[in-house]
Amino acid sequence: MGRFSISTALESDDPECSNPFDEETLLNLLKTAPPKLDTYSKFISFGKDRYQRNRVFKNQFIEILVMCWAKGQCSPIHNHSGSWCGIRVLSGVANEIRFAEGFFSLLPVSQQSFEPGSITVARDDDIHCVANFNDAPLVTLHCYAPPLENMEIFQVKSV
Ligand SMILES: [Fe+2]
Repeated sequence: MGRFSISTALESDDPECSNPFDEETLLNLLKTAPPKLDTYSKFISFGKDRYQRNRVFKNQFIEILVMCWAKGQCSPIHNHSGSWCGIRVLSGVANEIRFAEGFFSLLPVSQQSFEPGSITVARDDDIHCVANFNDAPLVTLHCYAPPLENMEIFQVKSV
């Protein structure tokens, strides 16, 4: 891998990025990401009705997004269809709920909170959703390698 990093993706309009990512390089990208929220100010924008995805960079190998979540906003429940998905919390607390497919419906199997600086990775057929349950705004950095084009969205059936 060359010198591609989150910093170069933030600073350059056309950063060099010409290799696929494995889990280790993806994790490394997130670990070496600038920790301060200010660095991402160009990409911080909240939506009134739903969480907002703000794209930093995308090519055939990776998509980098800054996502902004107001209180109560959450992603759909989804899988990752052949992509690695790494998340680093920049500000606020991220809640991640993981699901398993049961016979009749999805079952929640774990819930975890992630503080600023924490990193979590979902891969391929992992099913999860991410939410902000707190008053404080949540800002997360997401790397999808390769870009997530065909994720499936799930509904939890109520009985
Ligand atoms: Fe995800």
